[in-house]
Amino acid sequence: MSKAKIAVISYSLWGHVAELAKEAAEGARATGADVTEYQIAETFSPEVLVKMKADKSLTKDLPVLNAQDLKNFDGLVFAFPTRFGRAPAQVSALFDRTGGLWASGSLLGKHVTMITSAGTQHGGVETTALTTFPFFVHHGMIYVPIGFQFPELSEISEITGISPYNAATVAGGNNSRRPTEKELRVSKAQGTYFAEIVGQFVRGKI
Ligand SMILES: Cc1cc2nc3c(=O)[nH]c(=O)nc-3n(C[C@H](O)[C@H](O)[C@H](O)COP(=O)(O)O)c2cc1C
Repeated sequence: MSKAKIAVISYSLWGHVAELAKEAAEGARATGADVTEYQIAETFSPEVLVKMKADKSLTKDLPVLNAQDLKNFDGLVFAFPTRFGRAPAQVSALFDRTGGLWASGSLLGKHVTMITSAGTQHGGVETTALTTFPFFVHHGMIYVPIGFQFPELSEISEITGISPYNAATVAGGNNSRRPTEKELRVSKAQGTYFAEIVGQFVRGKI
């Protein structure tokens, strides 16, 4: 039986998104999917990263995604933090390299989902998903949201970044809050759910 091929593609400056992405990858692997993890190319210089006190320890050994790699997968999980309520420039730079894939329709019909992080509770978790949709829509990709299927979505005893759009964390204004057990759990569940949906589609095509 053909295995769903899934890429988990992350950009993370201080590791919050990287932690969530690892869980999503593990969740996807648990379905038997063939999962490859990538990092998105950095556009900041090493000097700027030092000044920003970036911590890329969780992603530094991952291969850097080449835009052409995208066409090799059935499902794409993007994981990146918010910047002013939308995707970081590094993500835009990646999509700006996908003109050829757009022209050839190479990403048409592929499934896609995303995971994010914001410094503050209402500072961009949902808008980052919404403002990223044009990339997916123009390529004709099918976005898979998580809806309210997990009890963590409706449970409000603690702050979480989770929404029906996706798993997410709230990093804190100074990035001092780490992803919670709940947020990590939903990220893993999102990876599993996404891989199951993609798997059904891949098997249905045979
Ligand atoms: C230039 C810049 C813009 C940001 N804009 C927002 C924002 O609009 N809303 C918000 O809540 N957090 C904002 N943040 C905080 C980041 O989203 C936060 O540091 C990130 O989610 C941490 O994830 P990471 O450790 O994976 O990089 C911003 C951070 C930077 C550096």
